[in-house]
Amino acid sequence: MSAAPHAAPVPLAARPFGPLAGRARIPGDKSISHRALLFGLLAIGETRVTGLLEGEDVLRTADAVRALGGVAERLGEGEWRVVGVGIGGLQQPAGVLDFGNAGTGSRLTMGVAASHPITATFDGDASLRKRPMRRIVDPLVRMGAEVVSEAEGGRLPLTIRGPRETAPIVYETPVPSAQIKSAVLLAGLNAPGKTTVIEQEASRDHTERLLRHFGAEVVVEPHGEHGRRITLTGQPELRAAPIAVPADPSSAAFPLVAALIVPGSDIVLDNVMVNPLRTGLFATLREMGADIEELNAREEGGETVADLRVRAGTLRGVDVPAERAPSMIDEYPVLAVAAAFASGETRMRGLHELRVKESDRLQAVADGLAAAGVGVRIEGDDLIVTGGNGEVRGGGTAATHLDHRIAMAFLVLGLAARAGMRVDDGTMIATSFPTFVPLMRELGGDIDAGLQGGGAGA
Ligand code: S3P
Repeated sequence: MSAAPHAAPVPLAARPFGPLAGRARIPGDKSISHRALLFGLLAIGETRVTGLLEGEDVLRTADAVRALGGVAERLGEGEWRVVGVGIGGLQQPAGVLDFGNAGTGSRLTMGVAASHPITATFDGDASLRKRPMRRIVDPLVRMGAEVVSEAEGGRLPLTIRGPRETAPIVYETPVPSAQIKSAVLLAGLNAPGKTTVIEQEASRDHTERLLRHFGAEVVVEPHGEHGRRITLTGQPELRAAPIAVPADPSSAAFPLVAALIVPGSDIVLDNVMVNPLRTGLFATLREMGADIEELNAREEGGETVADLRVRAGTLRGVDVPAERAPSMIDEYPVLAVAAAFASGETRMRGLHELRVKESDRLQAVADGLAAAGVGVRIEGDDLIVTGGNGEVRGGGTAATHLDHRIAMAFLVLGLAARAGMRVDDGTMIATSFPTFVPLMRELGGDIDAGLQGGGAGA
């Protein structure tokens, strides 16, 4: 079985133009969008979703929901109806579940499928095929699932068969990962009795919030200094409930950092989720001296959202503690770009998990920064960036390795670097932020096809 060939790469280039200004609506949160579809599948009745992220990753999960017997239908922009089969009611999928680039979609769906007496094959693109799956499969095997086949090293393509009856477990996650936690809890929905997940560092809690929103019983207790112990009572009847997906803070991060580093910028990003387990980047940038104002904070659909007003200014290097990583795990590439424009050194600690994201992000960020003329080094699991105090040469090409966040981070760098910046492929941006280029252009950013060789041209 070979992964579907990747579409032809499309290089993009960004160059400095003028200040960014205006208001922008960031697409829906990717984490909540995947979960909205999967909870809709496991509920009885019709779940209405608004603000769903219609990125490629989430659309793969919608395909999986259909393959497993649910209805996932688009009614309008971001507006979907999902009709569920109920816990225990999944149908045997007819073909391979192909998740493309989507780690979250594949791993959460594995938890759902492997707790049902069906056999499902998971596959993905060249990036997803490199990512570790044993961390998901191990607890599922303890719950009774069986791995029928897998690629070397416990990778995709992988076929898993669920048991007649799933066993509840107590599981301590080996790394702080919301994906592992969520896969176990979603499997625990079809297990009699209580399933417990213990995490040493609290990771994003959207699964726990949605479990409650759909009527399940979940108890969350503190564990140690930074951790949590989450206990779910299995086999509840999940009742369909409406979900309003707020804007994704991990996507907002790109225009936000762009506005900080392009002199004179002043923008507002509407309706951004500010769940404290997702906002480590905002906290770090504020420590660096960033002007980020939360306007009109309000509760919407079980999450706190706010409009973020961001103004350019000078930034200073900081030391980012390892325990902050789970709350900003996807934001390090763009934080590293902000650090490149700060004064002094920024040390980002404990980034080992970045090695197993859509690409080896630790290396990809270091290589891209070096190509832009930025002082950067990796020491163990730490990334150290020497800031240019507002001045970055740019003019190079960042290799993106099928990684959307690497592509967006280096385009943001190009908006403020003297000679701009080019990325070798922008196609993967569509997995999480399909409107990125038009939205940045609307705010005044100069991003277009990076057809000329070498640098972006200034
Ligand atoms: C996610 C969890 C994170 C994050 C990913 C989305 C989720 O992964 O990197 O983009 O929705 O649960 P890990 O929890 O595996 O670190």
